[in-house]
Amino acid sequence: MGQSIKGLKNSLESKSLEHHLHPYTNPELVADIGPQIIQSGDGVRVTDLEGKTYIEGMSGLWCASLGFKELELVEAAVSQMKELPFYHSFTGKTSEPTIRLAEKLIEISPNNLQQVFFCNSGSEANDTAIKIVWYYQAAKGQAQKRKIISRKGSYHGVTLAAASLTALSYAQEGFSLPLDFALHTTWPHYFQNSHDNESEEDFAKRLASDLENLITLEGAENIGAFIAEPLMGAGGVILPPKEYFGLIQPILKKYDILMIADEVICGFGRTGNMWGSETFNVCPDIITCAKGLSSAYIPISAVLMSKDIADEVEKQAVRLGQFGHGYTYSGHPVAAAVALKTLEIMEERSIIDHVKGLENLFLERVSDLKEFDCVGDVRAIGLIGAAEFIKPGTKRTKLDPKHKFSTRVVKAIQANGVIIRALPIDAIAFCPPLIIEEKELNEMFDRIDRVLPEIDKLAKTLT
Ligand SMILES: Cc1ncc(COP(=O)(O)O)c(C=O)c1O
Repeated sequence: MGQSIKGLKNSLESKSLEHHLHPYTNPELVADIGPQIIQSGDGVRVTDLEGKTYIEGMSGLWCASLGFKELELVEAAVSQMKELPFYHSFTGKTSEPTIRLAEKLIEISPNNLQQVFFCNSGSEANDTAIKIVWYYQAAKGQAQKRKIISRKGSYHGVTLAAASLTALSYAQEGFSLPLDFALHTTWPHYFQNSHDNESEEDFAKRLASDLENLITLEGAENIGAFIAEPLMGAGGVILPPKEYFGLIQPILKKYDILMIADEVICGFGRTGNMWGSETFNVCPDIITCAKGLSSAYIPISAVLMSKDIADEVEKQAVRLGQFGHGYTYSGHPVAAAVALKTLEIMEERSIIDHVKGLENLFLERVSDLKEFDCVGDVRAIGLIGAAEFIKPGTKRTKLDPKHKFSTRVVKAIQANGVIIRALPIDAIAFCPPLIIEEKELNEMFDRIDRVLPEIDKLAKTLT
C-alpha cells in the first residue's frame, strides 16, 4: 500500500510540475521541493499523500470555516445536483436556492442592504462592485466619478480591476498594473506606519486627513467609491485603528463617495460577528463576500448593495434595455444550496457564539508569542490573528527581506504539524476553521510554540 501511494505521489508530482501552473507559486521553488498534494480532510485537519496530518491553521485560504468534512454541505450539494444541477439567472430566469440565498443574505446584512448579485470568487465580486459603482454613477449623470480609492497594503483579488485595487506589488508586477482608475491611500498599519510617539488616535486622524487630501487632489467629482477590508487580511492581518472608520466615513459622505466593504475574509463570523463591518463600525453601501459564504466547499461570491444603488441600477437597466453584466454561473443553484446550508449550520450550531467563546483564548495564545525577541507585534480578533517579525533588539526594524524569514518560519511550523501562512510584511497569519475546539486551538499553538525558540535563535544570527 505504502509503495503504491509513493508511486502515485511521484507520478502526480511530476504531472503537476509539468502541466499545472500553480497560482501564487514560485515555479523554481516548487520544482525543488515538489508540490504538496493534500489528499483528505477531517474537521480542522488535512492529510497529505504521504499520510502526514496537519492542523489547517489557515482554513485553507482563510475560507473553510466549517472545516474539511462537513457532510451536511456535501449532502446539500448532492441533493441539489439531483434536483437541478445547473440553471442560470439571465433573462429573468433563476432557481429556488438562488432566490432563497439572496433573501437570506439581505436578512443578515448590515446597514439595510437591499439586493444581491452573485458571482463565483472574491475577485469577481470586487470587479462587479466596481462596475456597479460606475453604472450607478453614470445613471445619476456623474459618469466621470470613476476613480476608486483603496488602501496601500490591501488585497482585493486578481482580476483586472481587483488587482488594480490590491495594493501589493506581488499582484501587480509583470502585469503592467494597476489600471489608472485605481488610487491608493495611506497604509493603516499603526505598528509599522505610525510616527514615533504618534498615538493611535492621531494616526487615525492622519489617515483621515491623507484620504481627504487625496480626494481634493484628484477631485471628488472624479471619485466613485472607496473600498476597504474591515480588517486587512492577506496584507498582514491589520486591524484598523479604533477611530478609523468613524473618521473616514463622514469624509466619504461629504464628497458623495460610496463605501464598499470587502468582506471576503471578514464575512460570516471570522471577526466574532457575522460581518467585519459590525466589528469595526463600517456602514457600507456595497458589501462583497465569498470564501466563508459556502465554507469554501464550492465557488460562490456575492455583491450586496443598498436600496439607492439597486434602484438606480434598475432604472438604468430599463433605459439601456438590460443590466449588461453576468456570469454563466451567477447564482448557480448547487453553489447557492451549499451556501444556504452553510448559513443554516452557522445559525443552528451558534458558530458565532462559539467564535466569541474562543476569542479570548485565541488572543492570549497569539499574544504569548510576543515573548520572543523576533516578534515585534501580535494582533488578533475573533479567530484571525498574526505575529509580525522584526530584527531582535529593535522596536520595529524589519529583517532583510533576502532572509525570507516568515517563509522559513512557516516551513518549520509546518514540519511540526500546523499549516499557517507567511504574509508579505514578514508576518505569519493564523486563521483556523471557526469550528475549532479549545483543545485543538491549544494543540495548534503548543505546536507553534515548540518551534519559536529555535526561530528566535535564528533571527538573532541574521544580518
Ligand atoms: C479581502 C479579499 N478580497 C478579495 C479576495 C479575492 O478572492 P478570490 O481569491 O476568491 O478571487 C481575497 C482573497 O483572498 C481577499 O482576501
